[in-house]
Amino acid sequence: MSARRRVGVLISGRGSNMKALIEAAAAKDYPAEIVLVVSNRADAAGVAIAAAAGIKTRTIPHKDFADRATFDAALDGALRAAGVEIVCLAGFMRLFTPAFVERWRGRMLNIHPSLLPSFPGLDPHGQALAAGVRFSGCTVHFVTPAMDSGPIIAQAAVPVHADDTGESLAARVLAAEHRLYPIALALVAEGRARMEGDRAVIAGCAAPAEALFNPVPAP
Ligand code: GAR
Repeated sequence: MSARRRVGVLISGRGSNMKALIEAAAAKDYPAEIVLVVSNRADAAGVAIAAAAGIKTRTIPHKDFADRATFDAALDGALRAAGVEIVCLAGFMRLFTPAFVERWRGRMLNIHPSLLPSFPGLDPHGQALAAGVRFSGCTVHFVTPAMDSGPIIAQAAVPVHADDTGESLAARVLAAEHRLYPIALALVAEGRARMEGDRAVIAGCAAPAEALFNPVPAP
């Protein structure tokens, strides 16, 4: 196999998606390795998880910087110093300057817990429940300047149940996130998913043949 792509993961908190990527990359035949985890918050629980897995970590508190541009420059410097080729946002709750997004164009991924373009931003599960959708899910996309937007690489749909709360729906979606992100990163690392204009082009992937129904039709 050719060399594994060097990945930097940016987090702000719990880091469960980061952990899923670390675990996937532990397999010898996975096409990417996690070489750096950066948090913008000193209290992010994910930093200890990454360190325990033997991964280099950096904390770069955004509060230490006068503005977005200088924070983004520090972040970019840390990523470059580690030889990062692909950036994965995993619960990283900061908007970037257009210059940073342009620098990593086609090489920066984000995961969001909704079927984008529905319900970007905060409280996507509350938004989904309020809208009464019968399916929600999660999306991995290439990052463009607007929040939770950009060409979609992969999605997983999960059913919304009649008795769901924000917490129960979030848990069902999160389990799907942990499976989806490693799949999407592998596609990008292998060069099978590429950003072309405002679309992601995916090579050689199967799509489901059947519709999903919720409620399930009577037999
Ligand atoms: C995840 O659900 C992720 O999809 C979401 O934050 C959570 C982070 O959890 N991201 C966004 O809402 C981005 N707009 P984690 O730290 O356990 O991976």
